[in-house]
Amino acid sequence: MGSKDLVASIDAGTTSTRFMIFDSSARVVASHQTEFTQFFTHPGWQEQDPHEIIDKINTNIVESVKQLEAGGEYKASDIKVIGVTNQRETTVVWDKNTGKALTRCIAWPDNRNGQTISKLAGKSEEGINALKKETGLPLSTYFAAGKLRWMLDELPEVRKAHDSGNMKFGTVDSWIIYNLTNRAVHITDASNASRTMFMNLRSQAWDPKLCEFFGVNMDILPEIRSSSEVYGTIHEGPLKGIEIAGIVGDQQAALVGQKCLSPGEAKNTYGTGAFLLYNTGEKVVDSKNGLLSTIAYQPGPKAAPHYALEGSIAVAGSAIKWLRDSLGLIKEASDVDCAADVEASECVFVTAFSGLLAPVWDSSASGTLIGLSGFHDKRHICRSVLEAASFQSKAVLDACEKDSGVPLTSLNVDGGMTNSDVFCQIQADILGLEVSRPAMRETTALGSALLAGQAKGLFGWDITKPETLSKVNVSGRDVFKPQLDAKKREHLLRQWWRAVERSRGWAED
Ligand code: G3P
Repeated sequence: MGSKDLVASIDAGTTSTRFMIFDSSARVVASHQTEFTQFFTHPGWQEQDPHEIIDKINTNIVESVKQLEAGGEYKASDIKVIGVTNQRETTVVWDKNTGKALTRCIAWPDNRNGQTISKLAGKSEEGINALKKETGLPLSTYFAAGKLRWMLDELPEVRKAHDSGNMKFGTVDSWIIYNLTNRAVHITDASNASRTMFMNLRSQAWDPKLCEFFGVNMDILPEIRSSSEVYGTIHEGPLKGIEIAGIVGDQQAALVGQKCLSPGEAKNTYGTGAFLLYNTGEKVVDSKNGLLSTIAYQPGPKAAPHYALEGSIAVAGSAIKWLRDSLGLIKEASDVDCAADVEASECVFVTAFSGLLAPVWDSSASGTLIGLSGFHDKRHICRSVLEAASFQSKAVLDACEKDSGVPLTSLNVDGGMTNSDVFCQIQADILGLEVSRPAMRETTALGSALLAGQAKGLFGWDITKPETLSKVNVSGRDVFKPQLDAKKREHLLRQWWRAVERSRGWAED
């Protein structure tokens, strides 16, 4: 491979897709990002147009390559391989004869299937955890199997295609690769498959019993592959013929991009939601404290999978978008930094817009703003949104420490919200530990690029040997130290848990 070689990543997030091109030291040499439409047609619902996602990805590729070549240093042909990373759990179904989507995607935060899940799980703790041993996951509105079950129950055209053997199912990674390879491959990787509830966590194979539980025909499922191997080639456009060789869910990708590759290392990414992943190495750790056990990545077809404990928080950056787009309290997302620069003030916001995920797992919880008085103004509401993401992270972190028995001393963070210094300081204060923010925060795209590069032997990268990544630069960290008095922190946490109790049971499911 030559010195000008580049590696690229398609990062298909919840609200936008981007294409990033990296050099051997993880410098971004070109990139393009496009938002796509979210359809909120009923309370709790969130849909996306699968074809729009593909169109936006193609636009990003075209624009980034133009930008790359305009710089004069590189050509499109310097891009040697591509990785894919994606919002997880979002459910896509399509007609296997035409390749057309049968309906819009049901996006991961969508909790319309509350009743479906209640019927399958009942209300008891035991029922909710009935599949946890096999899948690492509780029965929840969050995962793809429950979303697909809702489609089969409620949408006759989907049911018909399923029953007649004319349907394919996938998470967004499957849909992207199916389209970019001109329908040649229908695959997913183990990290994405571990978010469906159809896969057995230990064997990394689809489990017939799980499929039967959800009433789903196994023929519709993609083939499960590792996170780092050649899957196929791009069939058209400026990157025609280039191989796709990495697939990994976006939160697991950020774990790789942050180089948290050894057991005990953790990161928290604040994107649309917030997701704290704690690397448990080649061992599955069964959570007793409301976390998920998930595949972090499988770094090659013959390699053992690496696992993680995960605390998933449904609402983080999306609440800032809500402050901007729905309430008009800020003009730009970045304005939240100034808007929230006030003292904590007894006003607590449980941003349970689609129920609460880890560690509470209650789809009946709804958004609750409590503790208001005439003293409060929009700045306090903005601050309470930032605090909500931090309180939930604290709950997840505490669960993580109980499950692992190892207290963290510092937390690596990334994602859009961490551009805010105010937010990073609030996190350090509420978590009571150092928050470490890398200068290079495109860790999600980078993680899938590393896995794709490894599959092609590019730059000697091998994520099972972290020393091979020494030139990959995610250093230049800002460290935020806790400044809040411990008693005050305990008071705020008690207040948070009281507010969480008030938020539960409002939305009937
Ligand atoms: O599980 C959902 C997650 O993959 C979404 O990530 O970055 O879009 O919040 P993000």
